[in-house]
Amino acid sequence: MRLDRRQMLAGSAAAFAVAGGVPVALQAQQASDGFTELKISKVPHIFLEGGKETRLWTYNGVNPGPEIRVKRHGQVKVRLINGLDEPTMLHWHGIRIDNAMDGSPLTQNPVEPGETFEYVFTAPDAGTYWYHPHFRSSRQVEHGLYGALIVEENTPLTDTVDLTLVLDDWLINDDGTINQQAFGDIRIAAHGGRLGNWFTVNGQSRPRLTAPAGKRLRLRLINCANARIMNLQVKGVDPYIVALDGQPLAMARSLGSTPLQLGPGGRADLMIRRGSDEIVLANLNRANEPLEVAYVDRTGSVAEDDTGDMPALPGNGLPETVDIAGITASELVMEGGAMGGLAGAKLRGRDVDMRELVQNGMAWAFNGVAGMTEEPFASLKKGDTAVFDFVNNTAWPHAMHLHGHHVMPLAVDGKPFVNLDWRDTVVTSANSRVRVAFVADNPGKWMLHCHMLEHQSAGMMTWINVEI
Ligand code: C2O
Ligand code: CU
Repeated sequence: MRLDRRQMLAGSAAAFAVAGGVPVALQAQQASDGFTELKISKVPHIFLEGGKETRLWTYNGVNPGPEIRVKRHGQVKVRLINGLDEPTMLHWHGIRIDNAMDGSPLTQNPVEPGETFEYVFTAPDAGTYWYHPHFRSSRQVEHGLYGALIVEENTPLTDTVDLTLVLDDWLINDDGTINQQAFGDIRIAAHGGRLGNWFTVNGQSRPRLTAPAGKRLRLRLINCANARIMNLQVKGVDPYIVALDGQPLAMARSLGSTPLQLGPGGRADLMIRRGSDEIVLANLNRANEPLEVAYVDRTGSVAEDDTGDMPALPGNGLPETVDIAGITASELVMEGGAMGGLAGAKLRGRDVDMRELVQNGMAWAFNGVAGMTEEPFASLKKGDTAVFDFVNNTAWPHAMHLHGHHVMPLAVDGKPFVNLDWRDTVVTSANSRVRVAFVADNPGKWMLHCHMLEHQSAGMMTWINVEI
């Protein structure tokens, strides 16, 4: 694609300075009553040099939205002020949150234009999280509404600096404006979703960032793209994965030469040893060619070599395994999409054929139901162990996201995974079956959906109920 080859640095609203590895202008400011205010506004933005101005939708005028930082077990207090001309709401992706603050349509009414909503919750887990709207998500996220939520360990890591890299791909026209025709286009929803042609890191195309060479560097990668599964390479260094989707791995794991796969919504924390080598972040395109998306220059001197073991992060108290003996798996069968041969599905309680589904903007079904189900996919009691089989009977990958919990992927097509990690967003390849398990310890109504936002709105969503 033409834009891929000539991506240049452009942009005004998104410009920010980097100091000490942390982009200061991205950090949230607190109001006098202790709340961080996130005010949505539309700001002019120029993606392409010499191109036309377009409108970004922003929290506080910047993309990404301000980074919110809190210590583990600290309180997040955010006042959302809706300056849009449509309703919105704020979801805290990956946080094992109090249900009332989850910001999904199951737990709150949309915040109308001009209105405010106060989110107050305790952050139970240290890690890399993010926030985004859960209302007309495809449009609202694509226009730039998202930001990082960083929950810091109570004891800071020694000699380590943090750099948050918020990754996105935008679908823009040749004149540099955000493509509008693609919203609601059922063909896009029935294929891979809205895949962009303009990649940004912290709101900029191919930014050159800096970090001190004399300290370890913790890269916090967040995939905020609507639908793109990123396959990331980190060149110039040998990073260790220390956390996925916020949750620390039991042991730091060398990334090696395999690209790091992050589905939309997914995060990874990478630890990089002290050193002065330039770091190049690249994303593999569909032809498996690396497209360089960001650079980190490391400045200053390295006092001594950084060798020896890379320690794991302190854990958040999740167990290392889930005992699933005697538990029957619940199957979530995904159907539909292009080349899927779906004949029809239930839509709002009625059996309809594919033509009528498409007329209603639907292309996908979970267990024969398109769109939000009236009944929960699973009814659990607090403390129950649950086993879900995500059965992907489609020709497309999907990024399954459960609210309020992390799940442990156990096996794909009956083959156990070598590494058992806690995830909140699980990529399931086309025509595969992925088994996950978790303990339902967080009461409430929790959404379970594909995080490819066009798939979600075209049918791939359901929910679970956890009773006290
Ligand atoms: Cu990140 Cu239900 O969403
Ligand atoms: Cu999907």
